[in-house]
Amino acid sequence: MKITPEILREMKQRGEKIAALTAYDYFTAKIMDEVGIELILVGDSLGMAVLGYENTLPVTMEEMLHHTRAVARAQTQALVVADMPFQSYMTAESALENANKFLAAGAAAVKLEGGVAVADRVAALTRTIPVLGHIGLLPQSILEGGSYRVQGRTTESAEQLLRDAKALEWAGAFAVVVECTTAAVAREITGALKIPTLGIGAGSDCDGQILVSSDMLGQFTRFTPKHAKRYANLAEEMRRAFLAYRGEVETKKFPDREHSF
Ligand code: KIV
Repeated sequence: MKITPEILREMKQRGEKIAALTAYDYFTAKIMDEVGIELILVGDSLGMAVLGYENTLPVTMEEMLHHTRAVARAQTQALVVADMPFQSYMTAESALENANKFLAAGAAAVKLEGGVAVADRVAALTRTIPVLGHIGLLPQSILEGGSYRVQGRTTESAEQLLRDAKALEWAGAFAVVVECTTAAVAREITGALKIPTLGIGAGSDCDGQILVSSDMLGQFTRFTPKHAKRYANLAEEMRRAFLAYRGEVETKKFPDREHSF
């Protein structure tokens, strides 16, 4: 069954939790789909997870489109959402033009960062394109005085987050990512909205959870955010395999008869 924004809303109403992950390539998306992950985000975390950038700011439309096509080729049941990169939605016109490129690349929806400040663009998009909102810690705002710290610790910040969430719902977003907020604020937002919340570092009371796959797989090891539980240690497994291969080539153990013609 193809997952749609409507199905995610119904899951919220039934109290069923939504499991979402990021993916950047065909093979990973295929496996996620096979195990029933409901939403796959081609996140601009691509920049750090795959492309070796310091942060998400240098990620381009071309790079995002390339990886969105790869994920979409997995023809998943999951809802594939493409993350709109930094400065790709400065105006309603550029937001529409770029979001349409993501739909042409095979995404079923787009995500953009911000609440009240981007509600006009979200409203312009949602006339034709499903939009996933994103509030709390906003990695694309790091140059404008944003911070990688937990959001919602003061009354003022908690109230702003609630306003942001409501503005996105008003603008027609089908769900909203809540990143790195106190659990109490995420709970209040989740209770106040009809659309689902997907938490990342936002406690257990959101309607679903989302993690960056390279964090939870232990592939990205430059730093591990507190919320990123490790379900595997792929970097270690890869190092072990590469070392074993190198050793066997050097000692002429590989290739052996079994792997020769
Ligand atoms: O780019 C990304 O991976 C994201 C997640 C943190 C939700 O936006």
